Amino acid sequence: MTVTYARDGDVAIIGIDNPPVNAASVGLRSGLGQAIDRFADDASARVAILECAGRTWIAGADISEFGKPAQPPYLPDLVSAIETVPKPIIAALHGTALGGGLEIALGAHYRIASGDAQFGLPEVTLGVMPGAGGTQRLPRLVGLEPALEMITGGGRIDAARALELGLVDRIATDDLNAASRQYARFLIDSGAGPRSCMQLPPPPMNDEVVEGLRARMAQKHRGQIAHLRAIDAVIDGLKLPSDQGLAQEREKFLELMNSPQRSALIHAFFAERAVARLPELAGVAARDLAAMGVVGGGTMGTGIAAAGLLAGLAVILVERDETAAGKAANAVAHILQGAAKRGKITTTDCETLMSGMFRCTSDYNALSTADLVVEAVFEKPEVKQQVFAALDQVAKPGAVLATNTSYLDVNRIAQMTGRPSDVIGLHFFSPAHIMRLIEVIGADKTRPEALATGFGLARRMGKIAVRAGNCDGFIGNRILTHYRAAADAMVLDGASPYQIDRALTKFGFAMGPYAVSDLAGLDIGFLTRQRKAPDRHPRDRVPVFADRLYEMGRLGRKAGRGYYIYDDADPNGREDPELDGFLSQLRRQSGLQQRVFGEEEIVSRYMAAMVNEAARVVADGTASRPLDVDVVMLNGYGFPRWRGGPMHWADESGLAQIVASIRNYARQDDHFWQVAPLLETLADSGGSFAGLNKGDKP
Ligand code: 3HC
Ligand code: NAI
Repeated sequence: MTVTYARDGDVAIIGIDNPPVNAASVGLRSGLGQAIDRFADDASARVAILECAGRTWIAGADISEFGKPAQPPYLPDLVSAIETVPKPIIAALHGTALGGGLEIALGAHYRIASGDAQFGLPEVTLGVMPGAGGTQRLPRLVGLEPALEMITGGGRIDAARALELGLVDRIATDDLNAASRQYARFLIDSGAGPRSCMQLPPPPMNDEVVEGLRARMAQKHRGQIAHLRAIDAVIDGLKLPSDQGLAQEREKFLELMNSPQRSALIHAFFAERAVARLPELAGVAARDLAAMGVVGGGTMGTGIAAAGLLAGLAVILVERDETAAGKAANAVAHILQGAAKRGKITTTDCETLMSGMFRCTSDYNALSTADLVVEAVFEKPEVKQQVFAALDQVAKPGAVLATNTSYLDVNRIAQMTGRPSDVIGLHFFSPAHIMRLIEVIGADKTRPEALATGFGLARRMGKIAVRAGNCDGFIGNRILTHYRAAADAMVLDGASPYQIDRALTKFGFAMGPYAVSDLAGLDIGFLTRQRKAPDRHPRDRVPVFADRLYEMGRLGRKAGRGYYIYDDADPNGREDPELDGFLSQLRRQSGLQQRVFGEEEIVSRYMAAMVNEAARVVADGTASRPLDVDVVMLNGYGFPRWRGGPMHWADESGLAQIVASIRNYARQDDHFWQVAPLLETLADSGGSFAGLNKGDKP
């Protein structure tokens, strides 16, 4: 039974139990509607308490129902039904009262919360907006600005802030069950009647605040529609009589519900949860983690060490010598101080972590207590060899030995030890204490428990782990190499890097490929090309311009110059007026024909290359499913979340269309542009990447 009705004297207890998160599914809505009617008719029940079993109050509408025909009773009607009962109803809130869950609570007449409860309207993060009265009740209750902040920010507030705003009336200092019953008794004894948010007057308008917010949202969520529609709904609605205010909200909500952005964002939500569900790891226990070792305290190692400390692990970081160890320790302290400044931890936590949980040394023996060690030294096989040979000597039996290599063969690294079954790849992204993605790579002999431990570490750090097969670049960097080659070929043929960056940021990428190069450093690409030079095919197109820029010392941001120029006037970079001339000259010298590229062609070539290689990555098992590719590209490569990832985007764009584009580009270069067999099969058979996610055979 999802919803139960019971009596505790003259108090009705309406219990909701719909695991895992009490989502407002059709069953819950219908059960709750019936229980509310029963309370209304139950003459001797004077107050009702709505309460939820399990880990949370209702965490929102059931988003697995989105995109399917809506089934009555509808959430807005249920909220109104609660609100119009002529006897007090208390919502007793714990866990996360989110979205439609918070809207149900706003329909109740009184709200009491446990001290650790959280509240939010995250609908915009799913491409919709509050659709059950949230845009109208919340501003009336807490005021315009705080309501707009919650509705457009999509974040959560804690119980103390909710009390301060008047969103809840009381906080239960101890047991919520007991406190809600006392509250009911208090209401009965004091003769309190029902209250309704919709009866409150609309808050005063502030055009300046609204216009400022609109401008910020348009900039921050470039390309997305939900945030601006949500502001419209609040403002338009508050100017209308309450029933019309609610009706226009519903209209805008349904419009967003039917948008491709909603379907992309819901896909991203479920895909991020599905990546951890791997049949090969079902029932496999991860090893316990108390202490983590890190070898190499450069860019990545310090970030990984900080992420470990922030996740409550003891961390031992080993560097080459004591000077390097001292520098690395300072870098870790700096990251933790940054976390304290952002309010993630307190300054005291920062000091406690550094003094009690962290050790930085040049002595490898210190790693003997680590349950898992992540190697993050230079990307050179001979250095990795030294490190893994040393780890083999000192690590305790059963410790997982992980490499953070970007491209190297994890099998070869595993063979550098006498315990290849304990070796995995853990490919973090920079900055490692912030980026949520980790690719977890198994080598041929890796034991499932070692892989499960990699997933366990990611969970502990609050990161998203994606299983990736062992190949050059794994999932993300392998696909990146391919679409980057498509971009470089366009530059060789006449496009400007700025034009490419502009077209792709307009498409929605956080950054274009050349701004990314500058951030990472042009040395990285150069060294990778050097490493791969022996295997280069005679028809591979070499981005000579990138090599020249490297040779000129234009290494990117760190050098003040790369594709862009960085200085005090433009710390984020400005275009170099001389670059186009430099490129034209280089093309002439190399005997290359120049031509003009339009924005549409740039995006089409870039995306076709990405989807094509992604299809190969899925076909050869490097990614378990298309959704794993989407999660990698969304969380590691700045792919616009509201487009759902390249595989979702490809399905939406039409696979046949992408195949036709590739065939068209192949007329000019049939070495690079070869249709991936999986893509071709799906396009020919009318299949989709989404179908593969569900287990369909191609
Ligand atoms: N509908 C359906 N399923 C949901 C769900 C929802 N609203 N929220 C979570 N789930 C599912 C997850 O898919 C997951 O399923 P799985 O175990 O099969 O993978 C399971 O519940 C547990 O979720 P998490 O792994 O995310 O658990 P956490 O404990 O880490 O987080 C949470 C819990 C904070 C509630 C988080 O799940 C969350 O943020 N959920 C989404 C909340 C949300 O966006 N609500 C608004 C929905 S839109 C809406 O309400 C429209 C309304 O205005 C009309
Ligand atoms: P880095 O050059 O910033 O740091 C490497 C560190 O390793 C240096 O501090 C060096 O002193 C130390 N080191 C070298 N040999 C050592 C040894 N024998 N024992 C202990 N310490 C030693 O390099 P970065 O960028 O941190 O990269 C490290 C690894 O992570 C590489 O394999 C790289 O491919 C990978 N990676 C890098 C990413 C990035 O964005 N920088 C992203 C993901 C992976």
